[in-house]
Amino acid sequence: MPELAPGLVHHPAFFDRAAQEALVAALREAVRAAPLFTPRMPRTGKAFSVRMTNCGALGWVSDRERGYRYQATHPETGAPWPPIPEIAMDAWRGTANYSRPPEACLVNFYDAAARMGLHQDRDEAALDAPVVSISLGDSCLFRFGGEDRAGPTKSIRLHSGDVVVIGGASRLCFHGVDRVMPGSSMLLREGGRINLTLRRVTTPAG
Ligand code: SIN
Ligand code: MN
Repeated sequence: MPELAPGLVHHPAFFDRAAQEALVAALREAVRAAPLFTPRMPRTGKAFSVRMTNCGALGWVSDRERGYRYQATHPETGAPWPPIPEIAMDAWRGTANYSRPPEACLVNFYDAAARMGLHQDRDEAALDAPVVSISLGDSCLFRFGGEDRAGPTKSIRLHSGDVVVIGGASRLCFHGVDRVMPGSSMLLREGGRINLTLRRVTTPAG
């Protein structure tokens, strides 16, 4: 598998079309239980352009008052998050090389105008575990660099069914999504892109 940088591994077409369709069906059910919400930046309250939800014991949320965090319940319904779809767990089992299961599956939905600015995933105590990212639907331009926000970056296209493992020496790399390419996939009836990130949050002692 192409290593984009040490610890940053791209698995193109990890999921075939049938598995992608089954995963989308599982996500539709998850979204019925845990509706998409619009997260907001800490302090400024600026809305993210993606809408999100989570599956798993813990979910990543953000709002103006309390900032980035993991919590066991949906911020609007107060209900526990639905379970992580088994098909998504296949990506963790197949690529993470980590002894414990993920606790969180963040589900980001990108419409044609959505993007994700360069950031690090650093709200997890278990930084020895990778983040495993699954792409579904429209392709996107994914940008990644090193641990210095101002350092050089590269970008690659991620397509429906691709998995990217963000681990090892790249676990804290800056990364983001510059844009999605409308019409590049027929998987989602209404277009757009879904990204799932599976994360181990707590350490054994936590
Ligand atoms: C993220 O970093 O949370 C999302 C990355 C992606 O959408 O590919
Ligand atoms: Mn991220």
